[in-house]
Amino acid sequence: MKQKIQLPSGQNVLNLGQGTWRLGEDPSKRQQEIEALCAGIDRGLTLIDTAEMYGDGDSEELVGEAIAPYNREELFLVSKVYPQNAGNPDMFEACEQTLNRLGVDSLDLYLLHWRGRVPLQETIDCFEELKRQGKIKHWGVSNFDLEDMQELLALKGGENCQTNQVLYHLASRGIEVVLTNYLKEKGIPIMAYCPVIGQEPDLKDLVYSNQTVKEIAEAHNISIIQLLLAFVMQQDNIIAIPKASSEKHVQLNADVLDIVLSEEDMLRLDAAFPVPDQRVPLSVQ
Ligand SMILES: NC(=O)c1ccc[n+]([C@@H]2O[C@H](COP(=O)([O-])OP(=O)(O)OC[C@H]3O[C@@H](n4cnc5c(N)ncnc54)[C@H](OP(=O)(O)O)[C@@H]3O)[C@@H](O)[C@H]2O)c1
Repeated sequence: MKQKIQLPSGQNVLNLGQGTWRLGEDPSKRQQEIEALCAGIDRGLTLIDTAEMYGDGDSEELVGEAIAPYNREELFLVSKVYPQNAGNPDMFEACEQTLNRLGVDSLDLYLLHWRGRVPLQETIDCFEELKRQGKIKHWGVSNFDLEDMQELLALKGGENCQTNQVLYHLASRGIEVVLTNYLKEKGIPIMAYCPVIGQEPDLKDLVYSNQTVKEIAEAHNISIIQLLLAFVMQQDNIIAIPKASSEKHVQLNADVLDIVLSEEDMLRLDAAFPVPDQRVPLSVQ
């Protein structure tokens, strides 16, 4: 289901973007991956999520090559800094390298990839300085659980956080116990990574063999992957960033913008894959 998600900055973004983990690692797939990213942009999937970690910069370079023909203003580029680089002076160098690899002057969103040893206040101060320098428009975090978010938002400048990127899919709904509502109350959207269970083969098998999932996918004439994506995209305040390395997969994912699951579908999925009864540790990849 197509939805516009409003960031705290006031900017609206589509609830479907493109992930890039593992893109750019295999030279023999380079052209196909670039074509996949471009096909996504052409379908309106202009939010692209990458990180300095992915292939040690290879993903950012591949994204840079894919976006080169496009008008920079049409794109919403997200990258992430390693926790060990998220302080003074390393973050400035890391950001510069990311910008060079992407071939752009600024990022739309720069995320702390996960929490490390650098004090959060120092990281926020560096983000804010990068904003002043025009190197990034906004910043956010990733893999932050409730207490991390509470701590962040209590710090000076913490209220400028634009998103928390966390693992979320039909078979991993722990964030719905408290984190989802907390972020919604604070007006901070979630970016859902691994929305089609890309990294957990056992969970994927579980979902694939589930009768309810099969029936709902069949009823909508869509694949199970598309149903998984539709489930995430139906939620409020969430942007899904599946990674697809072929044009075919990108097109199938973009088609999900037109899929609306019924209330009954959602209730059946809820029953098949319920939210845990109590808090569980944040799932991470
Ligand atoms: N912040 C973090 O710590 C963190 C952690 C993990 C991921 N991420 C971000 O989130 C993005 C998504 O997560 P992910 O890549 O781990 O997992 P994912 O998007 O859930 O799954 C990716 C897998 O799904 C396949 N796929 C995608 N669309 C498909 C379709 N329509 N039909 C069939 N297969 C399809 C892809 O295959 P093909 O490649 O063959 O198309 C790939 O194997 C990452 O790329 C990255 O940008 C962030």
